[in-house]
Amino acid sequence: MEGRWPARGGVLLCLTVSLLLQGRGDSFTINCSGFDQHGVDPAAFQAVFDRKAFRPVTNYSVPTRVNISFTLSAILEVDAQLQLLTSFLWMDLVWDNPFITWNPEECVGINKLTVSAENLWLPDIFIVESMDVDQTPSGLTAYVSSEGRIKYDKPMRVTSICNLDIFYFPFDQQNCTFTFSSFLYTVDSMLLGMDKEVWEITDTSRNVIRTQGEWELLGINKATPKMSVGSNLYDQIMFYVAIRRRPSLYIINLLVPSSFLIAIDALSFYLPAESESRAPFKITLLLGYNVFLLMMNDLLPASGTPLISVYFALCLSLMVLSLLETVFITYLLHVATTQPPPMPRWLHSLLLPCTSPGRCCPTAPQKENEGLGLTPTHLPGPKEPGELGKEVRPGETELDGGSGRTKTQLVELWVQFSHVMDALLFRLYLLFMASSIFTVIVLWNT
Ligand SMILES: *[C@@H]1O[C@H](CO)[C@@H](O)[C@H](O)[C@H]1NC(C)=O
Ligand SMILES: *[C@@H]1O[C@H](CO)[C@@H](O)[C@H](O)[C@H]1NC(C)=O
Ligand SMILES: *[C@@H]1O[C@H](CO)[C@@H](O)[C@H](O)[C@H]1NC(C)=O
Ligand SMILES: *[C@@H]1O[C@H](CO)[C@@H](O)[C@H](O)[C@H]1NC(C)=O
Repeated sequence: MEGRWPARGGVLLCLTVSLLLQGRGDSFTINCSGFDQHGVDPAAFQAVFDRKAFRPVTNYSVPTRVNISFTLSAILEVDAQLQLLTSFLWMDLVWDNPFITWNPEECVGINKLTVSAENLWLPDIFIVESMDVDQTPSGLTAYVSSEGRIKYDKPMRVTSICNLDIFYFPFDQQNCTFTFSSFLYTVDSMLLGMDKEVWEITDTSRNVIRTQGEWELLGINKATPKMSVGSNLYDQIMFYVAIRRRPSLYIINLLVPSSFLIAIDALSFYLPAESESRAPFKITLLLGYNVFLLMMNDLLPASGTPLISVYFALCLSLMVLSLLETVFITYLLHVATTQPPPMPRWLHSLLLPCTSPGRCCPTAPQKENEGLGLTPTHLPGPKEPGELGKEVRPGETELDGGSGRTKTQLVELWVQFSHVMDALLFRLYLLFMASSIFTVIVLWNT
């Protein structure tokens, strides 16, 4: 055993020396005369493999030029809380190794070879925004061409930091940056270039992204500012990846049900104010809306205040307002029918134009009441108050006393007043709802 070592060492030494000598003489041409008999002779590449610890250049003042491109093959996750984008990339690096050249004609027409990447010097290109350790699988290979051009592709799962703005959720676009830079080599030693044009990168990425997931690739832009850290200047290439969320899931699950509930809430104003069912109906709606919000909470981004949360809060407050309005009208009607207080003169004169049938603040609930077929004894019909007004007018002197009017007339006046209030508040509610929803939609579209 011991005796074999010196012999083997000697052979290796001889080989290295001869290869080095040969390289120096013939600009590092690899002797491939034996390739056709036993495949590739590892000994022919040994000199290159032995140099893998050092940057492969003949003159150390010349920077190595590494050309970069990548293919975005999947957008896996966008985490708004941690502000992280998880994506999958294939990074392609191309550089020249001047120690590898051979003549394809001498080497049975071999133009390029695959070489295990661990035997070669690799540029330390990394993504600056990446917040994860590099999980490059081992055992990758690289293509080596007869001119010494090395093409190395590696798959990367990149969890990169990205400034996410979820205000416009679910109609949001994000603009994430991938900055490719060398970890160690400054501009004196390494320059970065583009292996493909940006539109080619965008096109291949669009074709490769098979996932019809939540995110859609809009486009990729690039910028190439140099980065200076202390006195060192590093070359870098920045890619801006613009992605857009597909909103259909959120429209169907969040916006449509919410709009239906709020529409039903608005329509429930047409339930007669006298009937007992209006308030319970609105309470049920409010309860339903709360359950809906609880169930759909998972779909909302966990952090920040997106516009959609404001919209939900708005819907909820509209429902609460409409419930309050119902409570108020019910109270008014209750007071009016049980013990009507004397009606102040100003209120009466205010009510008079409304009670005359010619120019009326049209009272929606009353019209609806007719449609619902309620008995006119139960509700004052639209004609009745008109007659009432005419009846009261001659006896205005009696009004001053407050006791001259019969109780039925007073009740009817108060009931009339409640209906006018109901209609007025309904209109205000509709106005507020329309304007706020319009504002939200306008904000979403900008
Ligand atoms: C190449 O190597 C073979 C042996 O493998 C040797 O016979 C031949 O002389 C070498 N050629 C050159 C140019 O060194
Ligand atoms: C190395 O390259 C630099 C710049 O290109 C040049 O000035 C210098 O002469 C070169 N040195 C050698 C030994 O070729
Ligand atoms: C890199 O790209 C530049 C310009 O596109 C080209 O001139 C150069 O030969 C390329 N270098 C490598 C190593 O691919
Ligand atoms: C992304 O942001 C960068 C700088 O912040 C900007 O130059 C680029 O135009 C943006 N891209 C898109 C599509 O908005």
